[in-house]
Amino acid sequence: MKEKKIYKPCDLIIYGALGDLSRRKLLISLYRLENANLIEPNTRIIGVDRHEGDNAGFIAIVLKNLREFLNDKIEDTVWQRFSARLTYLKIDLTQRDQYQPLKTVLNPQTHIAVNYFAVSPVLFKNICQGLSHSGVLTAESRMVMEKPIGHDLESCKEINDAVAKVFSEEQVFRIDHYLGKETVLNLLALRFANSIFTTNWDHNTIDHIQITVAEEVGIEGRWDYFDKTGQLRDMLQNHLLQILTFIAMEPPVNLEAKNIRNEKIKVLEALRPITLSNVEEKTVRGQYSAGFLKGRAVPGYLEEEGANVESTTESFVALRVDIDNWRWAGVPFYLRTGKRLTNKRTEIVIYFKQLPHNIFNDSFRDLPPNKLTIHLQPNEGVDVQILNKVPGIDENIKLQKTKLDLSFSEAFKKSRIFGGYEKLVLEAMRGNPTLFLSREEIEQAWIWVDSIQDAWQHLNDTPKHYQAGSWGPVASVALLARDGRAWEE
Ligand code: BG6
Repeated sequence: MKEKKIYKPCDLIIYGALGDLSRRKLLISLYRLENANLIEPNTRIIGVDRHEGDNAGFIAIVLKNLREFLNDKIEDTVWQRFSARLTYLKIDLTQRDQYQPLKTVLNPQTHIAVNYFAVSPVLFKNICQGLSHSGVLTAESRMVMEKPIGHDLESCKEINDAVAKVFSEEQVFRIDHYLGKETVLNLLALRFANSIFTTNWDHNTIDHIQITVAEEVGIEGRWDYFDKTGQLRDMLQNHLLQILTFIAMEPPVNLEAKNIRNEKIKVLEALRPITLSNVEEKTVRGQYSAGFLKGRAVPGYLEEEGANVESTTESFVALRVDIDNWRWAGVPFYLRTGKRLTNKRTEIVIYFKQLPHNIFNDSFRDLPPNKLTIHLQPNEGVDVQILNKVPGIDENIKLQKTKLDLSFSEAFKKSRIFGGYEKLVLEAMRGNPTLFLSREEIEQAWIWVDSIQDAWQHLNDTPKHYQAGSWGPVASVALLARDGRAWEE
């Protein structure tokens, strides 16, 4: 057993402390960590933004946010502890002379500076220059950044290069919030701690794999960002490819970041390119039109506030992905993700191969395959579909599909399931890079996605329409039907 690690206190500096990401996610997650007594007692949180303000004003804003976005009750003692950590600093991030006050606030002898860039990537370069100019950085300092890290390989490299001028790769923590989700991490445990899965995880036993990340939400006031981005770049380039690498990678020698990352990169390198020659057969793009969600009328993509009515940006994408390596030869991975779908559902379904011969033809003409479903959200859990004899003394053996069902909330009643951000912010403060993306990984993902984006651009084609509240365009059903398969509904 490892000894419990002692972590040094941090100065967590949030650039963009009054912005959306901080208000909705970061500060809420930090409060929850406080509530669970997981923040080092001397750690401080320094909110940086361009608006005029002082500590008392910042503390009042944070309290207001907690009231708005935290679903639990705010405990008085927890809030006292939490608010005592908060400091505010006004900096116009584009002005490098304004970073000087950080020098008086930070305490590099005793605290590790964790610089969280919770702002638009257009400011990343400015912040790096400002920090470098102010002389506050040390070899121990860290920086945390989030997607979008570019919108293609070139812009991603530009950001990475600007950051690399000031921070070494070991100091950089790139977030994909899906890697903080409990069930994504559980994939490692499921695959590498259970022999029934480790020995049945390749082309010999698996027929195909489906990954669905369905969202109920639409554009949520982010038309400008989303329209330039689209669902392929917003969701697939990062979250779905990350899930895919966890399912497809070879066992790492241990849980060290470099070993896990190396295995993930090998998967990304083995993705068969989608180019103009096969893009029509392998991809489906969709855009939602008006429809109904849970009985409520919702507008179409082109009718959202601020919409450009000529936009051909996709809000849905489905792909057939092939991985050209020994383990996965001939096993397609079908990925789909979209906005305004029937309900929020993120799941992975592993379809095992059908048995070659059926001796139970009274029950099924063809035996349904075993299926392992990993429910990422909501209702985290894992289930396996098996065939079981229906109890009874009939002369014929009658089979029925049943489920071995493991719901996390039922099985682990005493353990709290933390949100992705809580886990990741804590890991960044602890300096554990395992759940963060390396530069190589993210650039490799862009290489593959850029090829699809280029092919789409060359096709004289527009996204297929689907009604809000449905499961996406009919063409996405055809994508699997061509291979004699169907989406899990
Ligand atoms: C973000 C995307 O990365 O993930 C959003 O930018 C998307 O468009 C969100 O809605 C989904 O995250 P989650 O955790 O709700 O599945």
